[in-house]
Amino acid sequence: MVQKTVDERPMDQEADFLKINSIDHVHWWVGNAKQAMYYWWKAFGFKPVAYSGLETGNREFASYVLESGKIRFVISAPYRPTSEIAAHQMLHGDGVKVIALGVDDVESAFEETTKRGAKPAWSPREEADEYGVIRTAAIHTYGEVLHVFVDRSDYNGAFMPSYQPLDLPHESAGLAAIDHIVGNVQLGKMNYWVQFYHDVMGFRQLLHFDDKDISTEYSALMSKVMSNGNGRVKFPINEPAEGKRKSQIEEYLDYYMTPGVQHIAMSTGDIITTMKILRSRGIEFLRVPDTYYDVLPERVGEIKEDLATIRELGILVDRDDEGYLLQVFSRPLQDRPTAFVEIIQRHGARGFGKGNFKALFEALELEQARRGNL
Ligand code: FE2
Repeated sequence: MVQKTVDERPMDQEADFLKINSIDHVHWWVGNAKQAMYYWWKAFGFKPVAYSGLETGNREFASYVLESGKIRFVISAPYRPTSEIAAHQMLHGDGVKVIALGVDDVESAFEETTKRGAKPAWSPREEADEYGVIRTAAIHTYGEVLHVFVDRSDYNGAFMPSYQPLDLPHESAGLAAIDHIVGNVQLGKMNYWVQFYHDVMGFRQLLHFDDKDISTEYSALMSKVMSNGNGRVKFPINEPAEGKRKSQIEEYLDYYMTPGVQHIAMSTGDIITTMKILRSRGIEFLRVPDTYYDVLPERVGEIKEDLATIRELGILVDRDDEGYLLQVFSRPLQDRPTAFVEIIQRHGARGFGKGNFKALFEALELEQARRGNL
């Protein structure tokens, strides 16, 4: 199966104005950080590493930092209804507020992006404590989401000033890194945000899926995958497409009330072990019909993993020119049918599982129908 690669030109100097080292962290704003933290800790096997709250002098919000491999999540909830986290939570439910990007030079990142049209959220600032100094600045992206630029090279505290270290035992599920983070935007807005990531952030387009690739009998979506200069950060952008019934993207927008993060894909080096752990801990995943597995060998050819195990765990497989990948999608992580996660293991393949879209979206529509939203 061939995916359309849209822009393979090397990044020119002009385009490489924003050097991103990594996704520094993803910040979730939720209603109850203590309980959400427990979910990431006990179910997804993250290690709690830092806490901020009343006991640390933070009178605005409670906040936990958890890590798994290179993934860092921050989970925060408000103490008072006047908090902006409370307002956000009331409107959107639990969701991702910040995708923070690690950079060497916060001033330059802010300057280069805002002069190209990014709407500033805060200009470069420093926060210091006995562990050093953290530099940040932030810009707005789709919906209510911010990109915070972070330079922590002169800081060796637990996370940031006001956070104290936590050291709690944890049992890892093997989640290693963020593979990609997908944004859902309104009908007709995909190209606007593709242009934004290109012009303002210096990203280029890797792939394009149209409604012929991603459609079922009922609903459709379109997607373009944007990647930064060194390829470490990948942000697919989805928009709904016309279909007979309501697209899954429209359902998301109806419940999140604004564009936002649809899913975070986290990689593992051993998806079978990871899935055994996550399933045993009660995480719910989408299941495709069993017939998917009857035709799998002829669709993807030889794979290292045992097919019976793959089938039993509900893992999906796709192959492209460069190899294959294994992936699985969770049900929504909160009551609203909004954000979810993907678990992915790549054996060379650089795609996003196009061969699974149809089976997957049919499974998704069954769930949407059960919620009365199709
Ligand atoms: Fe994905």
